[in-house]
Formats: sequence, C-alpha cells, structure tokens
Amino acid sequence: MNIPAHSNPGRNLAMDLVRATEAGALGALKHIGMGDKNAADDAAVQAMRSALNGMPINGIVVIGEGEKDEAPMLANGEYIGNGDGVLMDIAVDPIDGTTLTSEGGPGAISVIAASNRGTMLDPGPIVYMDKVVVGSRASSSFDPEAPLSDQIKNVASSLGKDVSEMMVAVLKRDRHQALVDAIRATGARVRLFGDGDVAMAIAAALPGTGVDMLMGVGGTPEGVIAAAALKCLGGNIFGKLYPRDEAEHQAGVEFGFNMSAIFTIDDLVEGDNCFFAATGITTGEFLDGAKHLDSSEGFTDEHHIRTSSVAYRSATGTVREIRGTHNLTKMEALGISL
Ligand code: FBP
Repeated sequence: MNIPAHSNPGRNLAMDLVRATEAGALGALKHIGMGDKNAADDAAVQAMRSALNGMPINGIVVIGEGEKDEAPMLANGEYIGNGDGVLMDIAVDPIDGTTLTSEGGPGAISVIAASNRGTMLDPGPIVYMDKVVVGSRASSSFDPEAPLSDQIKNVASSLGKDVSEMMVAVLKRDRHQALVDAIRATGARVRLFGDGDVAMAIAAALPGTGVDMLMGVGGTPEGVIAAAALKCLGGNIFGKLYPRDEAEHQAGVEFGFNMSAIFTIDDLVEGDNCFFAATGITTGEFLDGAKHLDSSEGFTDEHHIRTSSVAYRSATGTVREIRGTHNLTKMEALGISL
C-alpha cells in the first residue's frame, strides 16, 4: 500500500516511551515482595529517569512524582528529553501500585503517557477523582449522569451481556462500600482490587479481560493517565473531582476547577495526538510481570529478564504488545545499573 506523504503521521513516541517503562519495571523488579514501597518507587523513578535522558522528545512533566522541591527526579515542571520534536506534556507513574510491588501482589505497572503541550489536565490540589470507565463498544451511548442501574444495563446491552454477567472493578476501599452494594443490587458483580486503577481502567476497555467497567474513586493523576490510554483504545472515562475536605474543595475552586463538573475524556487529555506505554511489574489483567529467565527457558550463562509491555498511539489507533528480553549481564557491563 502506498501511503501519501501528507498522511505520514510522524514519529511514534510510544515506541520510545516503552523503553522508559521497561526501565521502570526492571528497576522495580528486585523490590517485588520485599516490603519497601519507597525503595521500589525510588529504583523505578531512577531507572525511568535515566532511560528518558536524551530521548528524542521535548517534554515537560505535567504529572510526575510531586513538586520540584520534594521530588529530585521526574518532578512536575521538569523538562525531559533532548529537546527534539513536538512539544509534549508528559505524565509518568514509574510504579502504579507501589504497595502491590512491595507486597508481591498482582497488577503493578510502570507507565508513561505523552500528549501535545498544554493538552493534559493538571490535577492541581485535587488528589482524588470519582471515575467511570467503559470500553469502546459502550463508549458512545454511555450517559455519566444516568442512574447507576441504567449505566450498567446500558454497558451490558452494548456488550451483548446479561446484567448478571457484568463485572465491575472497584478499588477495595471503605469509601466504596455504598457503591459496591449499589452495583450488586443491580445484579452485576464486583471485582474488588487492591491498587492500580490505571491497569484496571485498561482492562475494563479491553475485551477478554473479565472486567467490563471500572467505577469509583482513585487518583486524579491516574485518571489523566488512563484517559490517554483510553483515547488510543477507543474507550471512555468520565470523572468528577473528589475533594477530601472543605479546604481541598476550596483549593480546587481557587485553582480554577468547576468542582461539580463531570470531566470528559477530552477534558482530561485534549486532542488526538497522545501516546501511552506501560510495562508489567507484577502480572495483572493485561500485562505479565517482569521476571528472571533461567535454564528452563534456554538461558544459562548470562542473566536475562523478560518484560511484557504495550505501546499505544491515539492518532493511528496502533496498539502494540511488546515482549522484551533484557541481558542484565551486558547492561551492567555497560554501566547501566538497576
Ligand atoms: P500508588 O502506586 O502511587 O500507591 O497508587 C496506587 C493506587 O491504587 C492508584 O492506582 C489509585 O488511583 C490510587 O492508589 C488510589 O488511592 P488510595 O490508595 O489512596 O485509595
């Protein structure tokens, strides 16, 4: 097929970004199950940071590890990349699921999203967002203002399922007890999960994961990152800011937010030039965890690690699944330490 020059969509940044999420997962690997979530996060941040160094991007971190004076690396406002190419907003979460990683639980991922400069929502002072995520088949007909039972019925009918076959993922938190009861009262099932609502949002949008929707309150930054992935996959997310107290509500108002608005996917990430990459740290719904390979897999004298990643691009709708084998012996010889 001849692709006319004017339709050339340019560089697929997701292919570069995936190297950084692989690095994040490799950095986290030795901390899986070791009980120290801060050590895991530090190692992933450091590994991701050095992989992003010199990458052919001109990025500013909009969603990072926190404010510059608190976070030595990947801080909000930090410029990353070698300054080449289109100006981008970058959202990083070197580990979504730090507790999962430290406890050896399922579904921790290392993740990055990028989108044209000025297109990503800055969460400002609002830590939490109340989210609903649906996949592409339910996306266009979903009404975020409809009663919960109608929402679930609507998604069920888009998926050709009975409500009793619907599985709604909800973070296992005390704050969600009323939501869980209300979902079960419709006849639908609830999949409670410990942490990691970016991965679960993606699982809700992908067919064959056993999860049909995601509902409930999770991090606002994670909502923006999930929105980038969902733009690429064709799914949808709606979110309402969820201040923890009156002071946070007021801070949100002063930041310029309409605190009662339902944010659409375009409010979270505007436009259609976004990229998303993720690598599994521990095995979850849509990615395998990073793991050491041994002689049973044909690897003997050198130390190899297998990673499983995805690289998505919204403009082309390209969804790649990437399996990497990393030779740690050679990396260490080159001075790349993890
Ligand atoms: P961390 O890895 O940063 O701890 O985030 C894990 C996570 O489960 C997110 O996926 C989710 O959005 C958020 O925490 C929920 O916050 P909380 O644990 O405070 O309910």
